[in-house]
Amino acid sequence: MSHHADYSNFESAASRKDALETLVMSYEALAASQRNWVANLANCSSLLYHCYSDAGVNWAGFYVVDKDGDAEQLILGPFMGKVACQTIRIGKGVCGTAAATLQTQLVPDVEAFPGHIACDGETKSEIVCPITQEGRLIGVLDIDCLNLNGFGDVDKHYLELLCRKIAETCSF
Ligand code: SME
Repeated sequence: MSHHADYSNFESAASRKDALETLVMSYEALAASQRNWVANLANCSSLLYHCYSDAGVNWAGFYVVDKDGDAEQLILGPFMGKVACQTIRIGKGVCGTAAATLQTQLVPDVEAFPGHIACDGETKSEIVCPITQEGRLIGVLDIDCLNLNGFGDVDKHYLELLCRKIAETCSF
């Protein structure tokens, strides 16, 4: 890569799988010499947003445990997209459910998810993956899409892999 911004180019990817493999490798390269979680998750949000730019994604980013405030809530972290809710109770909404269960939430239709928190009324589907270190909740990765069924098993596989890489490479 001659410039850092080149990492955000996904035009040559032949498939979602290819694009996500490139994304994970790009994240690893960027995080190889950096452990600051704000810097790494900010660049990761950019990678995610650009990776999914042709797929109707309107928001990609992170919520982290508000350990310096109220540890029963998530607080907004680095993201790309429109302004979003600052805090989410653990157990509430899609993000709070992923945080409480430590299970990825693949939501094909947000209207059908009880308690979904609509930060943007345009969002139709969503995927949220938990990030843990030694079994302890750190935060969640959240991606929203303007289309129904925006995400599937390939996304779940690579985004969970990405969350494991984030846990390995960041000091929170
Ligand atoms: N929809 C999420 C809230 C976060 S925004 O989508 C950025 C939820 O239900 O937890």
